[in-house]
Amino acid sequence: MSDIRYLQPTDTSEAMHLSRVAGWNQTEDDWRRVISIAPDGCFGIRTEGRLVATATAICYGKELAWIGMVLTDPDYRGRGYARRLMKRALEYLAGRDVAWIKLDATDMGRPLYSSFGFEDECLVERWWRGGTEGTSARLHGDTVLPLDLDGAAFGTDRSELLAKLSPYGCVAGTNGYAMWRPGEKALYFGPCVARQEEEGRRLFDGFLSAHGGQDIFWDLLPGNSVAVRLASAAGFECRRRLTRMTLKGRGSASPLGNNDQYVYAIAGFEYG
Ligand SMILES: CC(C)(COP(=O)(O)OP(=O)(O)OC[C@H]1O[C@@H](n2cnc3c(N)ncnc32)[C@H](O)[C@@H]1OP(=O)(O)O)[C@@H](O)C(=O)NCCC(=O)NCCS
Repeated sequence: MSDIRYLQPTDTSEAMHLSRVAGWNQTEDDWRRVISIAPDGCFGIRTEGRLVATATAICYGKELAWIGMVLTDPDYRGRGYARRLMKRALEYLAGRDVAWIKLDATDMGRPLYSSFGFEDECLVERWWRGGTEGTSARLHGDTVLPLDLDGAAFGTDRSELLAKLSPYGCVAGTNGYAMWRPGEKALYFGPCVARQEEEGRRLFDGFLSAHGGQDIFWDLLPGNSVAVRLASAAGFECRRRLTRMTLKGRGSASPLGNNDQYVYAIAGFEYG
């Protein structure tokens, strides 16, 4: 028996096993957060008493939904579990009348998403830097987020997500903000949104002066050449490339008004 079920907060340690085996950076807190934001959009397949596959879909209003955490235990791959979960997630989103659906696809996941009609939008890169000695500055700054700017960057309102991420680490001003949070393998820098290059640089430099002693992951859109330059100059190296993919959910949907030039770091492959 392998029915699709809603993921529950009690599933997080098993879900964590799936992401850890895949080498992902998510923590159990990340799983808890996704489930708390989208309790009716997080699905799993349980078989032989184990959670063996997952997929999550977060709605940012009616404009945009983000699919993530598409994972199948290596022992259970090739049995159609990810396909069933994707179908279920897309049915759920059709019921929510969402205009656009996006995700960040690994090379393993991409053929599956293409078969559902997702089209390539742009590349997303994971950059990494190992910790260096002697950085211990403290970061000071506002934590009142410029939500209008985030809306202009991302194309829709993701204030609920940002409110849940900001307590881990956040510095903000009227022209930008940066956040960071713990990861399973490295500290995660992101999301970071800035109106101008100087602000992006200031936020990133401030973050790095306080946290450069730790290993850091930074997921960026290579179309933002300023972000790429900042990452290279600070000694980060590109470790992985994923493909951001898009599916039109509703026929009459007008284009999403996002602006990648404001995006210095994404919020996570599972959030966009
Ligand atoms: C990608 C992943 C979720 C697929 O899970 P799965 O349950 O094995 O997938 P399914 O059995 O439903 O297969 C779906 C499609 O994936 C592809 N696929 C699955 N197994 C494959 C294999 N061994 N070789 C090539 N393609 C394969 C096929 O396109 C398949 O399409 P089909 O139904 O027409 O055969 C799984 O390999 C995985 O967890 N990978 C690591 C994490 C990851 O990269 N996740 C994607 C994040 S975007």
